[in-house]
Amino acid sequence: MKRYGNIIGWGKYIPPKVITNADLEKTLDTTDEWIVARSGIRERHIVGEEENTSQMSIAASRDALNMAGIHPKDLDLIIVATSSPDYLTPPVSSQIQHGLGANKVGAFTLVAGCTGFVYALATAQQFIASGANETILVVGAELLSRFVDWNDRGTCILFGDGAGAVVMQATDVPSGILSYVLGSDGSGGEHLILPAGGAANPPSQQTLDAGMHTLRMNGREVFKFATRVLGRALREVISDAGLQTEDIDLFIPHQANARIIESAARSVKLPEEKVFVNIHKYGNTSAASIPIALCEAFEEGRAKVGDTLAFVAFGAGLTWASAVVKVAPHERPVSKRWWQQLLPRWFSRNGHRQVQAIPRAFLRCRLKWSNLEERLNLTMRRFDR
Ligand code: ACO
Repeated sequence: MKRYGNIIGWGKYIPPKVITNADLEKTLDTTDEWIVARSGIRERHIVGEEENTSQMSIAASRDALNMAGIHPKDLDLIIVATSSPDYLTPPVSSQIQHGLGANKVGAFTLVAGCTGFVYALATAQQFIASGANETILVVGAELLSRFVDWNDRGTCILFGDGAGAVVMQATDVPSGILSYVLGSDGSGGEHLILPAGGAANPPSQQTLDAGMHTLRMNGREVFKFATRVLGRALREVISDAGLQTEDIDLFIPHQANARIIESAARSVKLPEEKVFVNIHKYGNTSAASIPIALCEAFEEGRAKVGDTLAFVAFGAGLTWASAVVKVAPHERPVSKRWWQQLLPRWFSRNGHRQVQAIPRAFLRCRLKWSNLEERLNLTMRRFDR
């Protein structure tokens, strides 16, 4: 029987701190009008000093797991898409696994720029379809505010921080990823690059002085590339799913630039009401943008269980990816009280030890009780005298 990976829970984390275009006007040679007209962005959320990628991911994952009614210990695998992990090593996926208290399950980080989340979903789908796994957590998280040059008006105005997560579970009901397209063209890598910090240019005083530890982008080239590939990737994925554009209930694109989104939707003749856009609030949150948009689409009632959705993304690499996803109904397990969840787990892990411990504990109680009785008797006897 064919196995599908249905999306049964979703969650997001948006840091509370907001930077508006008006705030940027104070430090940069830019205007709110220019940013809105060229990108559609009005504000973005940025992490506080204490926050990092793993914490944002854990918060979004908890939301998704709660919604799915899945305990972290019941996960089989965690896949995290990000280009801005807490450290180069250890992988942020392991920090997330530990932070969630997931049972030492496999966890890995996947890097494909802003396209990472769709790559991660397609990967999760394969693990489920092959029968290897039942329940997988897929996270898209990004903290690019620490990797942009806040004096470069061409890049810093675009990006924001955040995390989104989904829980995928095996089912025989046709759902989850119905088709996907993954693409990459490394010849355009230089158009969106963080030049130093990797093996090619390890950190040094020279790389620091040259400002090579922040993102450099050729916006025009990335823009041309995106408008070229997105429409094609969308058409291909819809046809691979055996569907027509009219069958798509909602188009959830990577939120990089409102003009790029319009151009992609136009190329497959999707009407405006079928396109989800939230870039004005968050800017480009890279690998987190599609899962955050997915959550909001459900929260706002723009997407419903039973809908067929189309995702499309592009990003560093250069890479692109698209997917047609059907969200089938899922019965949330009856929620149990904490002790109903914890006790069976505890017994199943330590059962034999507990069983041996019961007679010992009983004996200890008996001994203590007889000691107490003896002492009481002694005291009473003293009073009697
Ligand atoms: N405010 C005012 N003027 C600006 C700003 C700014 N913030 N930034 C650039 N300009 C100027 C430029 O210097 C240029 O001036 P010039 O003509 O005198 O040289 C002029 O505005 C036009 O610049 P363009 O780069 O041609 O502007 P464009 O219309 O292409 O918009 C933008 C720039 C918004 C960056 C656009 O190119 C874009 O969105 N590109 C795609 C970027 C993207 O999506 N990157 C993320 C990829 S995903 C990932 O993996 C991280």
